[in-house]
Amino acid sequence: MAVTTLSLRPMTGDDAGAVLALEREIFPTPWTEGILRDELAAPRRTYLVAEEDGEIVGYGGVMIVAADAHITNLAVAPSRRGRGVATRLFLDLAEGALDGGAEHLTLEVRLSNLDARRLYSRFGFAPVGIRKDYYVDEDALIMWVTDAAGPEYRGRLAAIREGLR
Ligand SMILES: CC(C)(COP(=O)(O)OP(=O)(O)OC[C@H]1O[C@@H](n2cnc3c(N)ncnc32)[C@H](O)[C@@H]1OP(=O)(O)O)[C@@H](O)C(=O)NCCC(=O)NCCS
Repeated sequence: MAVTTLSLRPMTGDDAGAVLALEREIFPTPWTEGILRDELAAPRRTYLVAEEDGEIVGYGGVMIVAADAHITNLAVAPSRRGRGVATRLFLDLAEGALDGGAEHLTLEVRLSNLDARRLYSRFGFAPVGIRKDYYVDEDALIMWVTDAAGPEYRGRLAAIREGLR
């Protein structure tokens, strides 16, 4: 079933409790409150939450470094997956970064995280290398979209958004 009541908005400090609860539920090495608050206070970051009926069901963030937009986090509550929540979050994060002048997109993902890798492939990310021991217990796959600045990539994002309707 498609998501109909979902809304996205910037994350604030008031969301920390709900976001950290999801972090701990979802990730083996979750962000601490200190990391999250530092990220929210840092320059060149955008963090969004996805809300359904007033409940935070997902969140994600991007950090801009020169022309690179680095996806720092993306997560959806286990019971709300497969309905386009992450896709919507990613679309807003990527379009916002490109509107702000980013030309490339990058992220790290666990080698074993096939759900996320499939999502990122749909968004045009290609694997470019391995970051050894990036996570406590696993290597990271480094993925990039190197040509995100042109109309072709904007068209890809628009097609994905259209496919959600
Ligand atoms: C990876 C993750 C964020 C994906 O979240 P999600 O909300 O389930 O993602 P989406 O629903 O947008 O996309 C998942 C699939 O559902 C499909 N889908 C999207 N909207 C849909 C809809 N309305 N109806 C049916 N299917 C839909 C998508 O096409 C997508 O297919 P794909 O697997 O071929 O890419 C989620 O699994 C998660 O939180 N995992 C744990 C944390 C994590 O790994 N984060 C990434 C760290 S790098």
